[in-house]
Amino acid sequence: MEQDRSSQSRPPHVLVFPLPLQGHINSMIKLAELLAIAGFKLTFLNSHHNHERLVKFNNIAAHSERYPGFQFKTITDGLPLNHPRSGSWFLDMFEDTMELKMKESLREVLVNSSPPVDCIIGDGFLGFALDVAKELGIPIIFFRTSSPCCFWVYHSIPDIIQAGELPINGSEDMDRLITTVPGMETYLRCRDLPTFCRKLDIEDSSMKLVVKQTRKSLQADALILNTAEELDGPILSQIRTKCPRVYAVGPLHAQLNTRLNAKHGESYDHFSNTLWEVDKSCIFWLNKQPNRSVIYVSFGSITSTSREQLVELWYGLLNSKTKFLLVVRPNSVIGKDGEGEDVEMELMEKSKDRGYIVNWAPQEAVLNHPAIGGFFTHNGWNSTLESIVAGVPMICWPQFADQHVNSRVVSEVWKIGLDMKDVCDSKIVEKMVNDVMVDRKEEFAKSASEMAKEDKKEIKMV
Ligand code: UDX
Repeated sequence: MEQDRSSQSRPPHVLVFPLPLQGHINSMIKLAELLAIAGFKLTFLNSHHNHERLVKFNNIAAHSERYPGFQFKTITDGLPLNHPRSGSWFLDMFEDTMELKMKESLREVLVNSSPPVDCIIGDGFLGFALDVAKELGIPIIFFRTSSPCCFWVYHSIPDIIQAGELPINGSEDMDRLITTVPGMETYLRCRDLPTFCRKLDIEDSSMKLVVKQTRKSLQADALILNTAEELDGPILSQIRTKCPRVYAVGPLHAQLNTRLNAKHGESYDHFSNTLWEVDKSCIFWLNKQPNRSVIYVSFGSITSTSREQLVELWYGLLNSKTKFLLVVRPNSVIGKDGEGEDVEMELMEKSKDRGYIVNWAPQEAVLNHPAIGGFFTHNGWNSTLESIVAGVPMICWPQFADQHVNSRVVSEVWKIGLDMKDVCDSKIVEKMVNDVMVDRKEEFAKSASEMAKEDKKEIKMV
């Protein structure tokens, strides 16, 4: 069924449809806001579960007032509202539950939309949106929230297997270079591949799913990536050999901030898109710290740590010469029967003089605070971009998805941080924190600030 979109006098109507996870919602709402500022009518299609949290922790009424042409609609993600949605739940139930239910609901929203939707911007992980768009005759652009480098690695996995470079043969093989990802031949090692590549089974279902969604992303009318030519030019050229219409529109948070500041002034109160309650008290604590004296430690919105890992990290931080601001997300510490909760209270008590612990921080504000001198991060793509734009060097402790590739690029290509991949030892934490924050402070601060300057030049030009 094709709806009539001809000779319209109304603004074009775009439907933005993210994978229902914080990291994906964050960048896709920013893209939607930029389009709303440019005069498009916007529908943001959220899951019931995430929308409930968005309404709970953000001022959605003020958002609607500011952007009258911007509406939220909600659909199921296939799970009951009270499901904990922890770990890799979306990978585990993607094809059996989520895909089936979301596809049907998306179709329903599109068929009943008034005015009709003129273009879909779908999360590139939701390949089924392409089938629905084709059936209804609606143009579709895919948006990948992960890094272009990782997108390119995902795309190349069948070639890596074909060349016999996968599976990995034991731990001694981890530093072997992978030679079949064009553009990355000189720095990508086995240990930098996404973690599912470590399995001996090259038929692994997560790997197959990710490759399938990635290759499907290239069949859309265009592909948008959250990056700038300045950052990822060489890899974007490689991706364009497979799909000519690839657009680098980021970093989106910086694009949005630049436009809002130009329109309303620097003190403008930006909306947050958070799914957790933000603890702003850490900003008051940061206000009392000297410039570039604090390391910010946060591992994004999905990663969990074991009790042992958290204690190891915490001792490393405590023994270093630096103060720290640590985020421990609720239910993110895996211990035996409630041990996770206890460890957080215990660390908080013992950290009083050296650190500050919160459940969820206003991350962009934190990274741009003058007291912050480094970011101990899992290298989710949003966090990596936010750090680059703020000119903050990183210590990288990647966990899954695009993070292993990102940390390699941060440390080896851009040289704006150190990679602590595959290690969690308090002595190494201490050494790396001292390197970035004290012993090699000027070297890292200089490279990070040069990178931020380059990036800002491009933001003004887009
Ligand atoms: C993961 C991936 O690694 C990422 O690359 C992919 O695109 C989405 O899935 P996630 O763990 O959510 O993402 O990390 P990240 O992409 O860094 O996003 C986390 C977001 O939450 C950031 O925008 C960050 O500013 C925000 N955040 C995090 C807070 O606002 N407060 C916090 O305390 C922690």
